[in-house]
Amino acid sequence: SLVHTRELVEQGAAARRAVPAFNVITLEYAEAIADGAVAAGVPVILQISENAVRFHGDRVEPLARAAAEVARSSGADIALHLDHVTDLELLRRASDAGFSSAMFDAGRLPYADNLAATLAAANWAHGAGVWLEAELGYVGGKPGAPASAHAPGVRTDPDEAARFVADTGVDALAVAVGSSHAMTERSAALDHALIGRLRDAVPVPLVLHGSSGVPDDELRRAVAAGIAKVNIGTALGAAFTQAVRDTLAARPDTVDPRHFLERGREAVAETVRQLCAVVGG
Ligand code: G3H
Ligand code: ZN
Repeated sequence: SLVHTRELVEQGAAARRAVPAFNVITLEYAEAIADGAVAAGVPVILQISENAVRFHGDRVEPLARAAAEVARSSGADIALHLDHVTDLELLRRASDAGFSSAMFDAGRLPYADNLAATLAAANWAHGAGVWLEAELGYVGGKPGAPASAHAPGVRTDPDEAARFVADTGVDALAVAVGSSHAMTERSAALDHALIGRLRDAVPVPLVLHGSSGVPDDELRRAVAAGIAKVNIGTALGAAFTQAVRDTLAARPDTVDPRHFLERGREAVAETVRQLCAVVGG
């Protein structure tokens, strides 16, 4: 069923589990993620990024409504989240489009600018009943961004994080603790001591971005140290694309897209099931 993100994250945190949040690009992803969640018996978040909205020609509503319907008809509890929003106009469409939460992404800005922009976004979101995640510190690897967050100076500082949350009133905080977006190998090493210090300093749930590059054991330790939401995108794209490539290679004469979409959807569902067991089990 379709539930509010706040409810899922609070329930998860109370049970010392994290809620996995999977990025949706097409309807098949939403279906696959719901299938994987049911197979694992774990609640999940379907998240649609601003980049994915741009891919659909700025038409956020059709995919969001379809994802919400997939959630409603699922045996798993599923919430709908708008991910990595930089555009306030898009944020304003979130609630009407069916999202109960959004991530406002001003983490690339200098501290004072991030604070001002996030405060404005949080005030608007709370008026609309939208749970708002923000970012402090810099999880690299997004298109057009520096390649890696595995460098000094890109970690989130606990004292600054506490101040930032107090001054903006955000509901959750994405932190830079050693992961990086869009990794295709699972080789990230997280700073677990820093996660623990952030957990102690920050009164809202902590979010790990770029989790596709984080090995299973590192994910388990991150959840144990206090991560409450784990964002996964690239791993699904890799699974989908590999399955489609294999299917097309095996059936070069196929003209019905369902032949490869079905295999792609199955591969995503299996990847989701496995990651659900690691993060939310
Ligand atoms: O917000 C989305 C996530 O941070 C996804 O990162 O594609 O590296 O798994 P990823
Ligand atoms: Zn992210």
